[in-house]
Amino acid sequence: MDVIEIIRAKRDGGELTPDQIDWVIGAYTRGEVAEEQMSALAMAIFLNGMNRAEVSRWTEAMLASGERLDFTDLSRPTTDKHSTGGVGDKITLPLTPTVAACGAAVPQLSGRGLGHTGGTLDKLESIPGWRASLTTEEMRGVITDTGGVICAAGAGLAPADRRLYALRDVTGTVESIPLISASIMSKKLAEGTGALVLDVKVGSGAFMKDLDSARDLARTMVDIGNDHGVRTVALLTDMESPLGRRVGNALEVAEAVEVLSGGGPADVVELTVALAREMLTAAGLTPGEDGVKDPAEALRDGSALESWKNLIRAQGGDPDAPLPEAAESRVVLAPTSGVVTRLDAYQVGLAAWRLGAGRARKEDAVSFGAGVTLHAKPGERITAGEPLFTLHADETERFDRAAEALEGACDIGAEDEWTPAPLVIDRLA
Ligand code: URA
Repeated sequence: MDVIEIIRAKRDGGELTPDQIDWVIGAYTRGEVAEEQMSALAMAIFLNGMNRAEVSRWTEAMLASGERLDFTDLSRPTTDKHSTGGVGDKITLPLTPTVAACGAAVPQLSGRGLGHTGGTLDKLESIPGWRASLTTEEMRGVITDTGGVICAAGAGLAPADRRLYALRDVTGTVESIPLISASIMSKKLAEGTGALVLDVKVGSGAFMKDLDSARDLARTMVDIGNDHGVRTVALLTDMESPLGRRVGNALEVAEAVEVLSGGGPADVVELTVALAREMLTAAGLTPGEDGVKDPAEALRDGSALESWKNLIRAQGGDPDAPLPEAAESRVVLAPTSGVVTRLDAYQVGLAAWRLGAGRARKEDAVSFGAGVTLHAKPGERITAGEPLFTLHADETERFDRAAEALEGACDIGAEDEWTPAPLVIDRLA
């Protein structure tokens, strides 16, 4: 095979053959295709796209570059969720134990935050003692004992994606629907789940800012999953404004525990229940029938909270230990009275990041207590001079830049200027 031929074929808008795809991914992973050649190919794909057969084969080749976990010997069906990432998106935290409490098993390989969206592992690491890195055997032990496991993906899963993602990151080729889809789905297929629910976010705080692109991404990923024998559905969900009232690692863990205790913000509860029902159904269980508990009931009756505690303890964490708090806080007051008509997720995410909740480079540490508390959400009334945001950080020097990020993030107006938007916009199967 000749890599230059493959680059030329895609540059000129042609379709890559299965053999070409297998060869180029394999050779790149072995270090036999140069970085500059792979970046040229990634740019050609970015510009000219790939059809369904090509994306499917590209995903398969990345999957084949590493190991594939197998949980088919568990006594429960496996099901997982992947979110394309948003601000205040702590849903994995209440969702995994809730689904486990309802009878399915959740093998959830998660990531760390980069940029304005947070990562599940960073959030959980704010719990004293909790460990993200598990061996495959430890992972199997935790999921067998508790019905769920949330941990870091080992280096052996889809290593081709690891290399290619780092390359895309520095060559302006991240935002390509076929490449994003193959990247996410190769890792999800490698984790060995039998069913998968995708939460594809759309709006200012999401990767995909408009509905058409989000739908296209969802369709591509759903097709890949189903083509590979994993029952896959997607919900398109709103990310114009942040989820819940707290953004930042330990702040979000505290909010997740509120939800698991039967309270918490309505939007976090709604999305947790919607995704949990989809995950159970995709796994062949019918919520509310045949002895399968409905997720809303599991949140109400304490079984989801019990399941959370088991899950945290199984990975060395103390679910009852106090969570870290930031050393300093500053309150931003509402400038006028009225109803919140818009709250920009991206700006809130950027503020939390500037307060220390996120990282600029992979090797940076995060501040567990840093972040933003939102005192009013869209549709809620606020009076001039009342707290609108509380900023939390370990160093006071961070406040000015965070407050700058929040300038213009929130519109306050008359009641009739606010139009409620649905949280779950669409469903694709
Ligand atoms: N997340 C991934 O895992 N891969 C992408 O390409 C984009 C987001």
